[in-house]
Amino acid sequence: MPIVAKISGSGSYLPERVLTNSDLEKMVETSDAWIRERTGIARRHIARADETTTDLALQASRLALKRAGLEAKDIDAILFATVTPDQVMPSAACTLQAKLGCGPIMAFDLSAACSGFVYSLNVADSLIRSGQFKNILVVGAESLSRIVNWKDRETCILFGDGAGAVILSATETPDKNSSQFLSFSMRANGTLGHLLSLETGRPQDQMKMDSELIRLPFVQMRGREIFKSAVRAMADSCEIVLKANEMTAEDVDWVIPHQANIRIIQAVGEHLSVDPKKIIINIEDTGNTSSATIPVAFDQAVSDGRIQRGHTVLFTAFGGGLTYGATLFKY
Ligand code: UT7
Repeated sequence: MPIVAKISGSGSYLPERVLTNSDLEKMVETSDAWIRERTGIARRHIARADETTTDLALQASRLALKRAGLEAKDIDAILFATVTPDQVMPSAACTLQAKLGCGPIMAFDLSAACSGFVYSLNVADSLIRSGQFKNILVVGAESLSRIVNWKDRETCILFGDGAGAVILSATETPDKNSSQFLSFSMRANGTLGHLLSLETGRPQDQMKMDSELIRLPFVQMRGREIFKSAVRAMADSCEIVLKANEMTAEDVDWVIPHQANIRIIQAVGEHLSVDPKKIIINIEDTGNTSSATIPVAFDQAVSDGRIQRGHTVLFTAFGGGLTYGATLFKY
């Protein structure tokens, strides 16, 4: 029987501190009404000064292990999707490996911005199907509050911090109705990379000893252009994975799109003609947490009983790179 990968457990963690739109009104020229209407966001969670991305990931990963009925020593690889690692080296994956107390396993970060978690699922699924790995911890975690310019109202209202984790476990199955990933579509378009960027630690800047070029590493975004690309890319990606399984949106129980803007989520839903009740949305309470949006929303929906074993679920992501993609799976 073929070896496939199933999600054996999930966990998520959002920092305790909450920053509301009213708090932001005191920091930049904006309003609660504008933010809600244009983005759907009401509040976002912000990590404490002493809380790093891997601290958030640790909480989410411990929960995922517990729910999978596994211990840290059972994990044989960690894939960590993030654009805000604690430091460049060692990687967030290696730091998390040490914090969790895993054995001497493979651990690496995957950089695909907001699509990083879904990219990582694709890689982890392939590694498991190869027969080399049995239980892979896949994490999407960010401390975006560290890279946001809190004086720029066009970006600072959008982002938040958080972490989500799942464990992919090897299982043998004879048919397509049991838990497994059915299809992936992962793409990138580097020619539009300038629309969403975070320039930091560039060797050419560091070489200039007398430089005035030292810039603070803030995220930069051309919002309106990104908006249009996001809708098209996510809708197309969903259509690819649905078509590969001879399915339509009607055959899907739940859709979890990357949570960047409520209007983007709704537009993707309209393109797919999916019943809005099937779309899982938590952006009001979390803002955009980049690679963490999908695993956090997934874990919340599993925890409150909306997503159940046997359900067909569609994830779709879009982010800096530009990167985008989708996966369809049986939970
Ligand atoms: O994670 C993956 C990538 N991220 C995304 O997918 C985000 C994509 N983009 C967006 O979500 C939206 O483009 C934004 C939420 C960033 C902006 O919404 P928009 O409807 O595209 O607004 P806009 O940029 O067209 O700006 C409309 C107006 C402008 O004023 P004028 O030029 O019309 O006078 C802005 O200066 O709103 C103004 N504005 C604000 N007003 C109050 C921009 N930001 C704010 C603000 N508060 N925070």
